[in-house]
This record gives sequence, C-alpha cells and structure tokens, in this order.
Amino acid sequence: MEFSIKSGSPEKQRSACVVVGVFEPRKLSAAAEVIDNAAHQFLSDILRRGDMEGKSGSCLLLHGVPGVEADRILLVGLGKEREFREKEYRTAVATAVRQLNETGGFDGTLYLTELAVKKRDVAWKIRQAALVVQETLYRFDRLKSKKEEVRRPLRKLTFCVTRRNELATAENALAEGLAIAAGMDLAKDLGNLPGNICTPSYLADQARQLAKSHALGVDILDRADMEKLGMHTLLSVARGSHEPPRFIVLRHSGGVSGAKPVVLVGKGITFDSGGISLKPGAEMDEMKYDMCGAASVLGTLKAAAMMKLPLNVVGVIPSTENMPGGAATKPGDVITSMSGQTVEILNTDAEGRLILCDALTYVERFDPECVVDIATLTGACVIALGHVATGLLANNDGLARELLDAGQDAYDRAWQMPLWDDYQEQLKSNFADMANIGGRPAGTITAACFLARFTDKYYWAHLDIAGTAWRSGKDKGATGRPVPLLSHFLMDRAKSAPKPVAKRKRG
Ligand code: BES
Ligand code: MN
Ligand code: ZN
Repeated sequence: MEFSIKSGSPEKQRSACVVVGVFEPRKLSAAAEVIDNAAHQFLSDILRRGDMEGKSGSCLLLHGVPGVEADRILLVGLGKEREFREKEYRTAVATAVRQLNETGGFDGTLYLTELAVKKRDVAWKIRQAALVVQETLYRFDRLKSKKEEVRRPLRKLTFCVTRRNELATAENALAEGLAIAAGMDLAKDLGNLPGNICTPSYLADQARQLAKSHALGVDILDRADMEKLGMHTLLSVARGSHEPPRFIVLRHSGGVSGAKPVVLVGKGITFDSGGISLKPGAEMDEMKYDMCGAASVLGTLKAAAMMKLPLNVVGVIPSTENMPGGAATKPGDVITSMSGQTVEILNTDAEGRLILCDALTYVERFDPECVVDIATLTGACVIALGHVATGLLANNDGLARELLDAGQDAYDRAWQMPLWDDYQEQLKSNFADMANIGGRPAGTITAACFLARFTDKYYWAHLDIAGTAWRSGKDKGATGRPVPLLSHFLMDRAKSAPKPVAKRKRG
C-alpha cells in the first residue's frame, strides 16, 4: 500500500473515492458540507430521504455525485458529534478502509483525518489512521494453500489535513505510524505462526534477519553458552523439549555511543504445554502465543530502527518450549538461578518467570537506563483486566507513569497494579529461597513479585500481556500489542535523550 498526505478541497480531488464523515443524526462533517455545496445539496437530499443516519460503523457508497472530480463519494457514519472520540475515530477509518477495499477503485482520499478528536492533534490522527489501515487489511494466510483474493484491492491512500502548514507534521507522523504498523505486523506474524514452525531457533533466525535488514547488532546464545552463564532456571524449562533453547540479544544503537540503553526483555515460550504440570486440553493451541512478548520486542526494535530513533535500545529474548518429558523438571525440584538465588519449582506451568529471571540477571551487564519486560505471564491477568488493558507493575513510579502515558497516546493502554512487599510472603518456600508460585490470590502480582527479586540493580517495569496479545474465538489471532505502547515509550524517551553528535546541528 502506498500512502500520501495532502491538503486541498474535497470536491476537487481526482480520486476513485473521496471519504467524508456524517455525524448522527444526519449531520454532515465540514468536508462533507463542502462537497454538498459543490453538488447542489446532493448529500443533504440523500440524508433527508433517510438513507443514512450517521451511526458509527455504517457507511454509504455514492456514484455519480455531480460537481465533484472523484468517481465515488463514501459517506462514513461517525456517531454523535459530542461522543466522537478516539475509539469512534478509529472505527470510522476502519469502516472506510474495509469498504474501499471492496469497491472497484484502487485509491482513496480520506477526509476523516480532518475531523476534530478531543485532545488529539494532527500527528496523533495521522499515526492512528496509518495503524488502523494496516490493522484492517492484515491477513494471515501464509499457511493456506489457496489464498483468498481481493478482486480489486486498495493500492493507494491519501490522508488529508486541513491546513498546508500541517503537511510536514503529518508526513512525519505518517512515517511513524507506518514504522509502528510494520513492527505490529511482524509481531502478529510471529505470534500467529504455530509452534512447529515458530521454534526458538526460528525466532533466532528472525532476529538475525531483522539485524541484517535494519543494521542492528545481534548475538544468539545456545545451550552451552547458557550453561556457562549459569542460566539454570531458564535451562530447567527447556529440559523436557527436543527443541534447543535460544537466548537472543538485539541492539539498536541510535543514541550517543556509551549512553545507557533502554532494555526490553520478551518472554519467548514458543509453546507452553505446562510441562509436567500439564495444562488441560481445551484451547491449548493458544499457547503458541506464549512468545508474544518476544514478538513484541522484535516488532518494537523494527519500529525503532525504521524511525531511526536516536536512542540505544537492547532487546533480549529468552526462548524455549515448555514440554513434559523424561528429562523434564518435576514439581519439587530446586534450581539455582543465574543470580545465585534458589527456586523451588512447585508448578512447571509457571515457567515464564523462570526464563525471565535469568534474562533479568543477564541484562545487568548493559548497565541499563531502565528495563521493561513483556510477557504473557498469568491467566490471572486476563481475569483482572480482561482483553482491554495490559497489566503493569514496576519498581519505580516514574517509569510506570511513562509507560501508562505511552499506552494512552498509542491507544494501547495499560493499567498499574501494586507491587507491595506484603505480597512477597506468598512466595515463601521451606526448601529454597523462594517458590515459583504464590497460590491463587493476586496471581499477576505474585508473578511480578517473583521477577522483582531479580531487578534490584535498575529501574524496572513488567507488562503482563496475557489478555491483550491475542484474540480468541472466531477472530483468533495475534493483536500486535504492545508494540504501539512500547514504540511510543521509546519515541518519548528519544525526545529527551542526549543526541548523537553527528546528528546534532552545529551553529
Ligand atoms: N503462559 C501462561 C499464562 C497464560 C495462560 C496466558 C492463559 C494466557 C492465557 C503461563 O505460563 C502460565 O501457565 N501461568 C500459570 C501460572 C500459575 C501456574 C501460577 C497460570 O496463569 O495459570
Ligand atoms: Mn505456563
Ligand atoms: Zn507460559
């Protein structure tokens, strides 16, 4: 898909289709009003006849509208003007794109990007439009022998802005939106691939390819390397599987050389059967998504590289399968982590924290500015927050605030839970420094409490994406979250980071 930005009058656009909005009940938006005047009230006549109410999610395609250059006009319902917010804006763009893709024309010119969205500027609207377009058109048909073909697919989209002096801002925002969208697409593809294809070695290959195409640094550690480093909790999870584990390190060095990096750590369980503490059969296929944290790290590094963010970022991915087997770790086994702390494994299905804790110790060597881990860590998080918000826990409130704000900006929201010491008691073990589970109450918090024991050297935040990384049911599929949140977090950090000397303007 090709994208461009424009400012100009809607009736003069030579386009297969010009898209304008209609508020409920039957109220034309500003751009629709302009077309209506040029077309001698053609649009208001249609509304009067009752063909379109303006409900959010509805649309009406018109041919042969007089007085306009475009072949078609698409009216998109926006809902009530007073209630027009982020969600309604996104719905309008998605509705338009879905319809445009089904009409005969190859291009579309969107005036929806001119609509006022409360508290949001032009950059936000353009970024979101780019994201919504990619999201609406995303298909995962790589594993189907016959692909469903769109007869005359949409090839080019133009986003309109009201004033000429907004063009530069909008171009910039478009590039950002497309970078984030590319990162999300990568995260979705990796998530949707099944466990027999997307193995730890496959993730490592993907990291190598990403490094090659985007000039990133990459290191892949194998089992022997991990043994040397003493990553025994990570290795304890890999014991039941025939697939060799991998530990992936990716570096985007966009910042001042020597400047402390932001470190992202992603859970990369390519299939979580539960191990000896085997999961029940229903929906177990969805545990191929247990590497969505890892996928979001790869996606975010891709976005950061495409945006050339002036920031040093390190992505770290501990990756393995969690399987039962003759050599698998057993409930009751005690393992020594890379940090030296010992863990009694009471449930082999609480494996995410076991691979993350060694990664969190490993990243100390980067002297991080801060560390954010991303993990499909607990079913309890789905119970607490559903599929709307990502769970957030942190050992520093400033960092937590930054991530919450980034989530709001990206429309990829997180919600904070407490990381109080009182919860640590639940992890007491009679046989080791800690147990790997804390019982039923506050499962998301006790999982984070476990990780917190490995993060006292730096500012750290944890994102539990168990409820937000994929959708179940008939629309089953990866969402690409939280790539938007993480990208915005890095974009904000890049703004305040010291700029590399070569890129600084000299007077
Ligand atoms: N990957 C799962 C968490 C999960 C489960 C995410 C269902 C999304 C949907 C994780 O490894 C796990 O199994 N966690 C256990 C922890 C428990 C044994 C303390 C859980 O949540 O049941
Ligand atoms: Mn598990
Ligand atoms: Zn898991």
